[in-house]
Amino acid sequence: MTDFDDRLRFAIDLATEAGALARSMRQGLGAVETKSSIDFCTAADLAVEALVRRRLDEAFGDPVIGEEAGGDPAELVWVVDPIDGTTNYIHGTANWCISLALVHRGTVEIGVIYAPDLDQLFVARRGQGATLNGRPLRTSGLRHGGGAVVEVGWSARRPLALSLDLITQMIADDIEFRRCGSGAMGLANVAAGISDGYVELHINAWDALAGLLLVREAGGWTNDFLAGDGLRLGNVVVACTAELTGRLQALGPLRGVA
Ligand code: IPD
Repeated sequence: MTDFDDRLRFAIDLATEAGALARSMRQGLGAVETKSSIDFCTAADLAVEALVRRRLDEAFGDPVIGEEAGGDPAELVWVVDPIDGTTNYIHGTANWCISLALVHRGTVEIGVIYAPDLDQLFVARRGQGATLNGRPLRTSGLRHGGGAVVEVGWSARRPLALSLDLITQMIADDIEFRRCGSGAMGLANVAAGISDGYVELHINAWDALAGLLLVREAGGWTNDFLAGDGLRLGNVVVACTAELTGRLQALGPLRGVA
């Protein structure tokens, strides 16, 4: 029998430990590997992922799929982004985090996101809600009354023209857009009601899974990210306060996303 409660407590401590390691490595970053014009890997990405893998192996013998060292789907597997928002981390801004998700038989059971510079710890357990530093989270419900604000991530894995088309259509529908550089934090902010939605035409599972559970547990809507082998291949991501679902699904590049 799998003990999710033990793993949840462990993941919270581990995310905090990993965050402290990443912060300690920020001075004198060392070589930055350029994976693409917007995709980087620092020594801290590698060291944090190695730490997370070692700790999970020692404690539970659990396998990991990580951004830097890969891994394979399994009945129970952790999906780990050691530093999401690496560009922000390199540039000295605060919007970056460690993201840990536990997938069991194709269902995300645990999501933990820790943003060390902001000292924000987001925790979600399937069926038990989502919290930020212990405080329960709800999506916005568009309660601010102003226009909707949606963050749009983009990746070189889809044609740039499609992302630009998406932004054009959002503006035409009076949806304000943002780009803050961390998909995991973008999703966590939807759960916290700070923004009303997060969309990206392709994102990897390690960037998205913990945040998607946060949004669902905070009462929001998300597409079925793991459909069509999303764990290995990544997928389009749409997550929002439920009131916005139809409007986002009506935008051309997101039509048919369910
Ligand atoms: C990236 C960030 C970015 C998103 C990209 C991701 P990384 O992750 O989450 O916001 O738009 O799709 O690859 O490289 O900072 O871990």
